[in-house]
Amino acid sequence: MIPQSFIQELLGRVDIVDVIDRHVKLKRAGANHAACCPFHNEKTPSFTVSQAKQFYHCFGCGAHGTAIGFLMEYSGLGFVEAVKELAQGVGLKVPESRAEPGPARAREAQDLTAVLLRAAQFYRSRLKDAPGAIAYLRKRGLSGEVAKHFGIGYAPDGWQNLAAAFSDYDGEPLAAAGLVKQNEEGRRYDVFRNRIVFPIVDLRGNVIGFGGRVLEAGGADSAAQGSPKYLNSPESPVFEKGRELYGLYQARRAIRESGRVVVVEGYMDVVALAQAGIGNAVATLGTATTPVHVQKLLRQTDEVVFCFDGDSAGRRAAWRALEVSLAHLQDGKQVKFLFLPDGEDPDTYVRGRGRAEFERLLAAAQPLSRFLLDDLAGRHDLASAEGRAALIHAARPLLRQLPAGALRLQLARELAERGRSTPEEVTALCELGPSTPPRAAPPRAPTRPVTPLGERLVRLLLSDPACAAAVTPAERELLDAPGFAPVAELIDLLKDGGCSTPAMLIEATRDSPHAALYRSVAGESLTASPEDPGAADAFAEAFRRLEHDRVKGEFERLNAAGPLSDAERQRFHALIRRLAELKGASRAGVRQET
Ligand code: UTP
Ligand code: MN
Repeated sequence: MIPQSFIQELLGRVDIVDVIDRHVKLKRAGANHAACCPFHNEKTPSFTVSQAKQFYHCFGCGAHGTAIGFLMEYSGLGFVEAVKELAQGVGLKVPESRAEPGPARAREAQDLTAVLLRAAQFYRSRLKDAPGAIAYLRKRGLSGEVAKHFGIGYAPDGWQNLAAAFSDYDGEPLAAAGLVKQNEEGRRYDVFRNRIVFPIVDLRGNVIGFGGRVLEAGGADSAAQGSPKYLNSPESPVFEKGRELYGLYQARRAIRESGRVVVVEGYMDVVALAQAGIGNAVATLGTATTPVHVQKLLRQTDEVVFCFDGDSAGRRAAWRALEVSLAHLQDGKQVKFLFLPDGEDPDTYVRGRGRAEFERLLAAAQPLSRFLLDDLAGRHDLASAEGRAALIHAARPLLRQLPAGALRLQLARELAERGRSTPEEVTALCELGPSTPPRAAPPRAPTRPVTPLGERLVRLLLSDPACAAAVTPAERELLDAPGFAPVAELIDLLKDGGCSTPAMLIEATRDSPHAALYRSVAGESLTASPEDPGAADAFAEAFRRLEHDRVKGEFERLNAAGPLSDAERQRFHALIRRLAELKGASRAGVRQET
């Protein structure tokens, strides 16, 4: 957990206009800035950024949020990562708590990425003087431009080339980064020698490791000589293979523009596809697909196409990808599978037959549902009752992983058809539970519906947080009435201090049950200019109305009660006087407003 005070400090320092402008060029538009929305396709700009409110909102697709939210959506970062990235940009250090890697660990990570970046720059500079390596890349169809896009470099032959780039060649950092090893005599040597190197970059653009390929054809013979075709950096505090995807950083724009990401197996597949104009490909790093991979990809886009060889190893790998995808298939997300003809990989296929042919394959990729059902059906004899029962039994653990939703419903229906059953029976046999429970990550609705007056107050507070200063303790107490909880929460936050912009309020309430209400109100009011006329009066009027309701309630209780005591009678008269006062003030207020 990052302390809320730090989030507020951070939001006080960053400017959302700078942050967004780094990724999406903004143009001034009246009081705000605007651009074509990066989150949906459009020709006229409806993506609006308010400097005053430190908030963005797209009037086309409804995307909205703070600078933190923008980085989470746009770069696919997690909350903590986004905060770190923003903090780095303004020179703030994120305070670490127990759950987080400690400061020592964070410093170590920073040192590691600095070392890895330096090495990447060194390898790249060496490529320029390596005609053999350049010729190899040319032979594989790569242009200088694409090589540069991926930061491809060359680790020269020789044992201690990195000593030229690192004065502390024998120091700890190079070893920790996995760039050098030590022989029995304790002598250091470079891990990557005479190899093309592919820097692996995380979503923040940090170099976190390398893949290195031998220059010759590679394969079984070179592996037999104890020199594998590809060498990969070892895992380190900054590099976990099960979490990273090669090329994701470089592919972000193409993924967004195409609305899909293609997952392939090799470095060269990613690079060759990009060379052919298919920029939305990424590769796993010699590991099976993990749930983290899938989650990361589905954060970037709604459609993931896994591309595998058509052989049995490819189908096994695909099945594994299917299994880890199931739990992430919220409605609106899709996963597809593409099997290449035998003996081909995306690199050979796209170079041999061209971009259009590969895109045709992509367009015809099998939806996960079909792969799942066809594969399962192929393993059972559907002509017999036993076979059909076994089919349903085999589907059970898979269906149970799917979030309840339209896809699960469709799959149950199709499974029922193939198993000569009914969807209801499949649902019961697989114990799927109700089909419309809350989704895994639902936009949280306010626990109690907010009254129209409450919503107006929320709007006032989000456009002019200073309004809260005038609220007296007695008035604050009135907000404990039903339907005003969201208002009370904002006022408490503002009275505590620390929050002075709408963006700060939005981040401070990220975990509130009213977060969705706050965000949508803040978004909608970005261009509601001029500000709600008579904001301060509206506040006063709201409190009068709240008090009126409370006083009236008490008045009616006493009025309906039997004989009153002296004290009660006095109270009764006081209530009547207060009601009259409130009515008068209210009328005066209305007159002033109009
Ligand atoms: P492939 O052998 O299919 O590689 O391995 P490729 O991308 O087609 O290579 P080229 O076309 O011959 O250059 C796919 C991936 O498996 C991992 C690498 O991540 C590689 O990109 N791999 C492969 C290794 O880690 N080590 C190896 O020796 C081979
Ligand atoms: Mn290949």
